[in-house]
Amino acid sequence: MKPNILPKIDPWVRDIIVDPLSKQSLRTSEDGTELISPYGRKYPVVNGVYDLRLLNNTTTPDQKLWKSGQDFYESSATENALADSMDYAGELAGEREVYEAIPIEGRCLDVGGHQGRLRAFLDPAQEYISCDPFLNVFDRIRHPSNLTATYPFLTEPVNFLCCEAEFLPFESCSFDTVHMRSVVDHFRDPELAFNEAYRTLKSNGKLVVGLYVLGGKQGKVGIQQQGKETIKHLLDRFHIREDGDHHIWHPTYDELTNLIESCGFDINTVHWQKGTNDSTCYIQASKVDGLSKSSP
Ligand SMILES: C[S@@+](CC[C@H](N)C(=O)[O-])C[C@H]1O[C@@H](n2cnc3c(N)ncnc32)[C@H](O)[C@@H]1O
Repeated sequence: MKPNILPKIDPWVRDIIVDPLSKQSLRTSEDGTELISPYGRKYPVVNGVYDLRLLNNTTTPDQKLWKSGQDFYESSATENALADSMDYAGELAGEREVYEAIPIEGRCLDVGGHQGRLRAFLDPAQEYISCDPFLNVFDRIRHPSNLTATYPFLTEPVNFLCCEAEFLPFESCSFDTVHMRSVVDHFRDPELAFNEAYRTLKSNGKLVVGLYVLGGKQGKVGIQQQGKETIKHLLDRFHIREDGDHHIWHPTYDELTNLIESCGFDINTVHWQKGTNDSTCYIQASKVDGLSKSSP
């Protein structure tokens, strides 16, 4: 049976929502179907979800690449949800030790947060919002199911809105934690996404990034892996995604940490997720005030 899950917007969330481009406040139309910016742009409210996505992503090669990857991700996520056969309990058990090492502090923005499964590791009273460009992410949840047996809170409303990491529709300095798990490799522009994380975090706020990295902890990219990446880049250039990899970027650990640091963060903790053969790292980094663009 399909539970009646309505994503919600709590008053504290409504208070910090802004236009994703101008960062000015948005007013709700009288009939509640649109959010209206002071400069004339409108955003629809679709089945209760604020759709604050900005771009059509149909113009440049980068945009088209991201869109085809996202379309592929959404259709395979939908098929998986219908099959309900994934090892959700194993997935959850594997993550537990990660959040013991890196607890999520205070008011949390979960960027690319999907259905908000991170709630498994939060205090129920903790302020939390998931934001994701996947508009219909709740549509295929069934209850009872394997999924809801593992994540019972999925049948309860969660703060959610639809947007891109590169254009976050939140006031600056609003969050204690910005969380990005298994998403940096999906972003169209990871640097812009980290810039937005920096902007929306409070002073000394925490960025938490979880990601599979190329070459793992050792940073050694084997010849086979190198060859695969080269082929992927070539196929991407010609918009052929036959290798089945729909990610945008597979950084090594050094590439990832260099980017995080150059975007104004100090790395506090690095945790390699157990059971991943040292291929997946979780990084907690603090926002340091005073970011300026580094010279080339
Ligand atoms: C592998 S899933 C991870 C979901 C969730 N973070 C988790 O760990 O369960 C990747 C997510 O990134 C989202 N995503 C893709 N491009 C994005 C972007 N530009 N901004 C924000 N989220 C994005 C997808 O819609 C998807 O929900």
